[in-house]
Amino acid sequence: MNTAGHSKAITKLLLHLHPNKVDEQSIKFTRTFGLGGVAALLFVILFITGMLLRFAYVPSVKEAYDSIIELQNNVVFGQLLRNLHYWSGMGLVLVSFLHVIRVFYSQSIYYERRKNWIYGLLMMFLVLFSNFTGYLLPWDQLAFWAVTIMTNMLSYIPFIGDALADMVRGGDEVTEITLLRFYHFHTGLLPLLMVFLMSIHFWLVRKSKGVTVQTSEKREMVPTHPNLLYKEIVVALIVIVALFLFSMLVNAPLQDKANPLISPNPSKAPWYFMGFQELLLHIHPGFGIFVIPLLVTAFLVYIPYMKYTDLKVGVWFNSDKGKKLTLITFVFAVLLTLVVIVTSEYFLDLRDWMPQVPVLISTGLLLLLLYMVPAAAYLYYIKSKFDAAKIDIVMAMFTILITAYIVMTIVGSLLRGEGMHLFA
Ligand code: HEM
Repeated sequence: MNTAGHSKAITKLLLHLHPNKVDEQSIKFTRTFGLGGVAALLFVILFITGMLLRFAYVPSVKEAYDSIIELQNNVVFGQLLRNLHYWSGMGLVLVSFLHVIRVFYSQSIYYERRKNWIYGLLMMFLVLFSNFTGYLLPWDQLAFWAVTIMTNMLSYIPFIGDALADMVRGGDEVTEITLLRFYHFHTGLLPLLMVFLMSIHFWLVRKSKGVTVQTSEKREMVPTHPNLLYKEIVVALIVIVALFLFSMLVNAPLQDKANPLISPNPSKAPWYFMGFQELLLHIHPGFGIFVIPLLVTAFLVYIPYMKYTDLKVGVWFNSDKGKKLTLITFVFAVLLTLVVIVTSEYFLDLRDWMPQVPVLISTGLLLLLLYMVPAAAYLYYIKSKFDAAKIDIVMAMFTILITAYIVMTIVGSLLRGEGMHLFA
């Protein structure tokens, strides 16, 4: 096949994913920022590089680390291959998160799209779990201790925690069985589930006639080829070139071989779970690992099923007022989270102050209230002062949640040192 033949074949392949004509509004870059497509592309790159890595990697405690060293030092383009896989994995976590933010704030999760929101949430979980299971495979200090911390966290879940942690690890410690379990999850079950969910996800996008558009604006249908396809190809090429450049310049981290007897100080979770680790430094683990994630998940699932009167599908932030409120809420949430972190770190010792009160109440419920009461007062304030509608309040709640998680992630990752002390 000549070059023209190749590009025709690629075009035909991409047309399978799209209808022949698309709404002109829906292909504006600022509608999606191409984030879903970039996530899909990163997944494909992960799949290909992962398949190739399997030729070099040996999933055993004795040989895993050495097989990575061998790959990096003695296989042609071995280091590059590992870097590409590592950075596209991290990229997928980040891009998926941004995609969630985009679909949420562009009011693209309601009515016929709410099922896709739920499938999306499942996919987000899978993306995180896939990345986390891969994290262990090099079997270096970073991997071993991050997985030890994370699986220990699981055991704080009431009733089933210990059993769950043991099931994930295949025992009460991170061992060869854990490595094998993670390897099979990472290279078998999880990619398979991802492909399955992605297919449903894409099909549902098509079923809802493409991405959201503002129904109030003038609408015109244009042929998908070249209008949308060329844009997609350009974005894909930019991502591929950027990924290659980055992978040529920055190596995926690899520390000393795992040593279960010496834990690094500080031992940190992978960056995308640092928000949880930070949370657990302040609040009772029953709340940090169980109550709060459960409430947040219930809230996220429930958002598109609530009844709204003022919903404007496809309109960024629903209105100008919504945009302004989101910005104010973001600033408020950054400040509130920082104030609560500093207060809890330096000024609060609830357990000592009230030894007769169960810790679940003193370091759990009371600490949660320390955050929730000002947050609720703020929501009440914007409701009365700005006459905020229900959708504005829900957007503000979502903004507070993700901002708090981002601030905790930054504080935990960048501002904590030895002994997990602030500014150590
Ligand atoms: C690997 C992960 C994912 C991939 C590959 C993916 C891919 C896509 C693509 C290609 C689109 C259409 C265009 C676009 O928005 O760029 C889309 C739309 C959508 N996605 Fe995702 N997605 C992923 C994860 C998620 C997650 C985590 C959520 C939510 C929790 C989500 C929710 C949605 C929704 C609601 C739509 C419809 C948006 C609209 O109609 O405007 N997706 N996704």
